[in-house]
Formats: sequence, structure tokens, C-alpha cells
Amino acid sequence: MNAYNISTKLLKAESPDSGAVDLAVQLLNRGELVAIPTETVYGLAANGLDPKAVEKIYEAKGRPKDNPFILHIAEMRELAPLVRFIPKEALVLARHYWPGPLTMILKRSSIVPSIVSAGLDTVAVRMPAHPIARAIIQRCGFPLAAPSANLSGSPSPTKASHVWADMEGRIPLIVDGGDCAVGLESTVVALTGKVPRLLRPGGVTPEELEKVLGRIEIDEAVLSSVDQEGPVASPGMKYKHYAPKAEVVLYEGSSAAYAKYVNGQEGAYALCFEEDLPLLTGPYICYGPANQPEMQAKKIFAALRELDERRAEKVIAHSPAQTGMGMELSVFDRLLRSAGFRIITEP
Ligand code: TXA
Ligand code: MG
Repeated sequence: MNAYNISTKLLKAESPDSGAVDLAVQLLNRGELVAIPTETVYGLAANGLDPKAVEKIYEAKGRPKDNPFILHIAEMRELAPLVRFIPKEALVLARHYWPGPLTMILKRSSIVPSIVSAGLDTVAVRMPAHPIARAIIQRCGFPLAAPSANLSGSPSPTKASHVWADMEGRIPLIVDGGDCAVGLESTVVALTGKVPRLLRPGGVTPEELEKVLGRIEIDEAVLSSVDQEGPVASPGMKYKHYAPKAEVVLYEGSSAAYAKYVNGQEGAYALCFEEDLPLLTGPYICYGPANQPEMQAKKIFAALRELDERRAEKVIAHSPAQTGMGMELSVFDRLLRSAGFRIITEP
């Protein structure tokens, strides 16, 4: 018997007072799961203070039990009860980047169930900017635990149709709030040590963090594969991630060198920049212009999913710049993970 035989509704929410928001609030109050739009990616939400509801997220996603969730709040006053104290860096970051694509790791208070944090003594908190997400959180009156609404390992969903593909039959409701404006997950910063530490690059760039915080540290898990067994600051970084079924490799080099390489690989798909198009002879999916990382961020997860729909077996992705501290770093991080850290450099 199929363990997942729930009938799933997909409802559009045009505004915060639409019927889809009413139903989402009802279901969340009953301890059920609802997929909601945020400005980064779609989230798979449950009442973050109810351990039984949170448990259902692990099941629906097939998520490893040692990977904790982010709690989503709508107002600043909802932060204090979730944490042991609020360091001044958190106030500075909140003033500049909340609501928005930024998650802070803080010391967890006792009202946060340990299952939310996978047993860690810290908790991740974010205040999303999407009006539908904000309305749902406000009307629930409790924080929502929400990972990205994909099956564990798949690219994060940036359209309601992506959530449907992964979650149909597993959850009662998907709220369609349109395409996600940022397209990559939030930036995760730990404020539990002496110096703020970047654990996952995302919608707020390292440059923007440094502008308001001064010095930050970059965790070793960023842009690198970490030990599967050892302890890591951000458990999510150790798992295979963002990957389509195809085998993906990254290629770093000029348009001419990239095109020559891809054209020489029988049957390979190009995951390329617009500038590469005139030089390519085989099948391709484009993820934006080479010098517009914000546009690439918005398109990359949809492009990875489309490769699966087209049953691509081998994909050669043109690598974004790897040196900057802007959005190109976040795009590169996701592509590197989807390629399982395989990268080829122009000779
Ligand atoms: O943009 C986003 O952040 C989206 C939307 C839905 O808000 N959510 C999201 O959640 O990407 P998820 O669960 O897919 O990624 C959360 C990341 C994981 O890498 C997890 O390991 C890390 O945050 N994380 C959560 N709690 C943590 C904690 N207490 N300490 C360290 N890392 C934590
Ligand atoms: Mg995720």
C-alpha cells in the first residue's frame, strides 16, 4: 500500500485574505503540513512548537533526522521567546535584512521542541518577506518550522508546480503564491560564537553581511564537501543536494572553451549562459546572462528540474564566477553541490 495517499489541494493565493490562506491556517492549527510560498523558495510548513507536527515534515520530505529546521516568524517580538538571548549582531542584521532572505542561528530557548533543532542547543530563525507567508504566520500565532518543500536531495522548489511534483499525495495543501523572487534559499549566519559565521550563502550576500557586521567568518562547509561522519556547524551542508537525476559536471572557462568542450560530448546537455548560445550545437537550457547572478539565482533550480523533465543524462554546466562575495557565490555553491563537487577547468 502507498503510505502517501493524501488528497492534495493546490490553491492560488492572490492576496493575504484569500481562501487559500484561511485553509492553510486551519490545517496548520490542526497539526497538518502546508506548503507555502516565500521569497526564497517554497517551504513545507508545520506548527514549529508542536513536535508531532514537526515529525511529519521529516517523513514527507524523507529528510535525515539530524538535519534541523528553520523557524519562521512575522514580527520582531516573536523572536525573544524562541532564544535564550538576542546578541546585538542579531538586532543589526534584523534591522537591515528582515523581513528577507536571512536566517540567524541563536541559542535555543526551552519552548522550542528539540526535534526542530535535531537535538542541537541552537535554533535557526528567519522572518520571510513574502506577503502570503507573513499573513499565514501572523494568523497562526505560532512560528512555522519550514524546510524547502522538495523531496530531500532534489532541487529546491521555486514554483508551486515544483512542489506538486514532489509533494502531491504527501500533504493536504499547497498554497500557490507565484514564482519565488529570489530563487535561492536564505543565507544562514551563526551568531553563537565570537565572530558571526556564514554557514550557507544565499539571498543576502557575504558582501551585504560584512557591510553591516564588519568582519565575518566563512564556515569550511561553504563551497566545500564536508566529512559525512564528523560534526558540522550546519548539518544540511553535508548531504547531496540540489541534484537532478542527471550526472552534472561544472566547467569553468570562456564561452569558446566551454562550447568546444560541450559540443565534443555526445548527447550531453549544456546548462549555459545566454552568451554561449551561438556557439552550441547540441541541446541546452539557459540559466541567464553570464554577468547577472541575481537572474541566475532566480532560474537555476527550475533549470535543474527541467533537465529531469527532458530526461537529460549528462549535463555540463557553465560555472559562474568563483571569486566574488556577491550573489555569484551563492549560485556557484548550489551548482557545485548539484554537481557533487565535480569541476573541470579550461586547460
Ligand atoms: O530560504 C530558506 O531558508 C528556506 C525557506 C522555506 O525559508 N528554507 C530552507 O530550509 O532552505 P532547509 O531546511 O532546506 O535549510 C535549512 C538549513 C539546513 O542546511 C540546516 O542544516 C540549517 O539550515 N540549520 C537549521 N537549523 C540549524 C541550526 N540550529 N544550526 C545550524 N544549521 C541549522
Ligand atoms: Mg533544503
